[in-house]
Amino acid sequence: MTQRQLNLVDNLICSVNRALFTLSSNTRSPGRASPAMQEANVDMSEVEQRHAAGLMRVNHAGEVCAQALYQGQALTAKLPDVRKEMEIAAEEEVEHLAWCEDRLRELEARPSLLNPLWYSMSFGIGAAAGLISDKVSLGFVAATEEQVCKHLQSHLESLPDQDARSRAVVKQMLIDEEKHGHAALDAGGLVFPAVVKAAMTAVSKLMTFSSYRV
Ligand SMILES: [Fe+2]
Ligand SMILES: [Fe+2]
Repeated sequence: MTQRQLNLVDNLICSVNRALFTLSSNTRSPGRASPAMQEANVDMSEVEQRHAAGLMRVNHAGEVCAQALYQGQALTAKLPDVRKEMEIAAEEEVEHLAWCEDRLRELEARPSLLNPLWYSMSFGIGAAAGLISDKVSLGFVAATEEQVCKHLQSHLESLPDQDARSRAVVKQMLIDEEKHGHAALDAGGLVFPAVVKAAMTAVSKLMTFSSYRV
């Protein structure tokens, strides 16, 4: 009985610690260096720089959500056979978070002020999906990655042509997110019905609209 209570308290402390770490915008990439480092930093007009910053703020908010989703999932889902794959995916999400933070700094922009709200929402959804079943939890990861890939593709079309540093980050994230989505489905994730995906698209549009601006 005592052991169970300690585990619960430990988990909650870890969750709070991880949330504060994610929202502090002080992430260091644990593995790969940012793909932006391989590209020159080219001057942009004020309008272009502001637009690039808005898009990278949206991407950063998406990575904050990914952190929360994986943390919520880790708290409730069992995932006995695929825990290793999900841990690798979660590590790559930390790299993405660090790359987006770095690029935002280079663009002299700040992360979205709404990130604590997105984190709470995503953590709750991740934990709830894990409570229902691992199949639903993995299905939610797959459906989320599908949404993220659509955003990243649209950002590659919308980013200023000369912003090679942001493009390099977005391109590598797109490769990784597609891989995460496939891994979640291969691990037995539920393919969500179109109506659920449509609802997720509506929520993600609201998130991108507001994170671009605030
Ligand atoms: Fe990511
Ligand atoms: Fe991902």
